Amino acid sequence: MLIKRRRGWEIPEPLATPEAVFLNRRALLGGAAGLAAASMLGSRGAWAADGPYPAARNGAYILDRPVTPERFSADYNNFYEFGTSKSVLPAADALKASPWTVKIEGLVDKPFEIGVEDLIRKVGLEERLYRHRCVEAWSMSVPWTGFPLSKLVALAKPASGAKYVQFTTFLDRKMAPGQRTFYPWPYVEGVTMEEAANDLAFVATGIYGKPLPNQFGAPIRLALPWKYGFKSIKSIVKVAFVAERPKTFWEALGPSEYGFWANVNPAVPHPRWSQASERVLGTDGRVPTLIYNGYGAQVAGLYKGLEQERLFV
Ligand code: MTE
Repeated sequence: MLIKRRRGWEIPEPLATPEAVFLNRRALLGGAAGLAAASMLGSRGAWAADGPYPAARNGAYILDRPVTPERFSADYNNFYEFGTSKSVLPAADALKASPWTVKIEGLVDKPFEIGVEDLIRKVGLEERLYRHRCVEAWSMSVPWTGFPLSKLVALAKPASGAKYVQFTTFLDRKMAPGQRTFYPWPYVEGVTMEEAANDLAFVATGIYGKPLPNQFGAPIRLALPWKYGFKSIKSIVKVAFVAERPKTFWEALGPSEYGFWANVNPAVPHPRWSQASERVLGTDGRVPTLIYNGYGAQVAGLYKGLEQERLFV
């Protein structure tokens, strides 16, 4: 994903973390240092000491592959607000995820602001096993805790003119050193109202049976498993219902590389990465990538009649 400004304002760079560095980290995790790291990774999210975790698992969402052990997924993240390293875990310690409120605004019955704990009390939580596929061609499979995005839409009571849901991450240059760069902060993402109503669209407040650790986007993020991971925006502070298609963070940064829809398709390569297969975190293997990341039965219908759009990458 890494884009650095040199000449002009956008020159793509190769993948931020070379494979060798990743393999090294894995080797380290196997040793004594790994034990200490693993117990740290296993700690509860700092922002919610008591909460309804773990939530009951929704058996409708299962996997065709093992869950990625936390020691691999928790130290291999993209969270550019805290740097471009995959090992953003220590830097993300600076995220102050409590107290945290989310503003609901735009074309809604009545704008409001709600604390994350209050929101959780209103909508309830469930656990789902989802795949997660980054456009950099790595993947993981994780148990998210959260609630369907449709429940948040129902609370917001959008007006009929609302066509998209726009999500925004916090903006705090003091807290997040990555936000002192030229990137178009804050991070913004969006989906159509139809996508938001799809049962797969999920708002996550936890992972591995506990509140989200900071590096996963505490305290509240999206999980859209049929789309590339960059659509799954972290640490959301604003949800706006809008008539116009939002300009997303990656689209603003590199429009030739990233579009609005960003649905997973092994047959459509990204300019820098083939999407035909993926490296599964925590294994030495690659597996073929599936159309809509394996969720075609649930989501392909959303895109009927939109074939002329740039639906993939
Ligand atoms: N959200 C914010 N606010 N900032 C980010 O840098 N990175 C995105 C997405 N959401 C990102 C973000 C990208 S590129 C990916 S692949 C996923 O988060 C990574 O999620 P993970 O770290 O939980 O695997």
